Amino acid sequence: MSITYSDFRSDTVTRPTAKMRQAMAEALVGDDVLGDDPTVLHLERLAAETMGKEAALYCPSGTMANSIAVKMWTNALEEVIVEERSHIYNMESTHMTFISGVTPRPVRSARGAMDPKDVVAAIRKPNVHTPQTTLICLENTHNNWGGAVVPLENFKAMRKIADENGLKVHLDGARIFNASAAAGVPVRDYAGQVDSVQFCLSKGLSAPVGSLLAASRERIDFGRRLRKALGGGMRQVGVLAAPGIIALTEMVDRLKDDHARAKKLAAGISGLPGVKIDPATVETDIVIFGFEHPSISVAAMLERMRAKGILALAVSGGIRMVTHKDVGDEDVARAVRAFKEILT
Ligand SMILES: Cc1ncc(COP(=O)(O)O)c(C=O)c1O
Repeated sequence: MSITYSDFRSDTVTRPTAKMRQAMAEALVGDDVLGDDPTVLHLERLAAETMGKEAALYCPSGTMANSIAVKMWTNALEEVIVEERSHIYNMESTHMTFISGVTPRPVRSARGAMDPKDVVAAIRKPNVHTPQTTLICLENTHNNWGGAVVPLENFKAMRKIADENGLKVHLDGARIFNASAAAGVPVRDYAGQVDSVQFCLSKGLSAPVGSLLAASRERIDFGRRLRKALGGGMRQVGVLAAPGIIALTEMVDRLKDDHARAKKLAAGISGLPGVKIDPATVETDIVIFGFEHPSISVAAMLERMRAKGILALAVSGGIRMVTHKDVGDEDVARAVRAFKEILT
């Protein structure tokens, strides 16, 4: 008998809705490299407007959007301040060195919010030995800090430091709509504190593909050349941009349901043998918890969960589970039941 899985591995596993598939089938298309795909142009305008920036660029992935952002703000022999657990530093195959020829300088943080004093201390002035710091990268929500929301106040502090030291600020806002929904802060307010922002359509917003990079018109024009150089110029790509428009206009409001389910999941498993989680730390859709059991390793736990139809991922010292459109209340209840059956 085949098993159906409740897939909590990531919010990237979300499938496009029926309406998205319909929109893909009916999308008007042109050649986006020649600049005349109407659906892409519509999506880019919408993204720029949503973020309060002059222009936006449709990219195949968040990693490419972040790569273009770093490249468009830096030159070789420079350095970029990154949060030490950030995705851009740890999970993007070191494009900073590979593509931009700059070094990342990791700074510790409290749940994704770097202390302004630590950031100021990390800024380097160039001399014959050292690179010049030119960019600060932020991430909100913070994936590896369990979907933590970085407060707007911290953004303002980073902006001030950047202005005082002639630096630019880029936001990896892969899940900026989750931050906005959880904090009640409009995405424009976060974006207003940074020089560029990238956000993903293909995570909780459920589009199959795509991220947008928003910034000034001049930087986005340059970013478009960088995207082409990286092989990211796509042709009749309106078929992929069409579900992105639905993601932005119709899928944002439901993110709060994912957050409520993540809290329910955390509350349901906290206190079980081996599970180390404080449910109060779960702010959005990501639940990361330590797992230390006398007789069950993380790998064995994931295997036992899989046998009960629950998919999750291993992270350093623990387990990561993410709620999204395609896991409902019944999937959360099934997961909690599976944990209890295995651990008690
Ligand atoms: C915070 C963050 N930034 C960037 C990315 C990269 O997105 P993509 O997988 O589309 O390259 C991810 C992907 O999970 C992410 O979580």
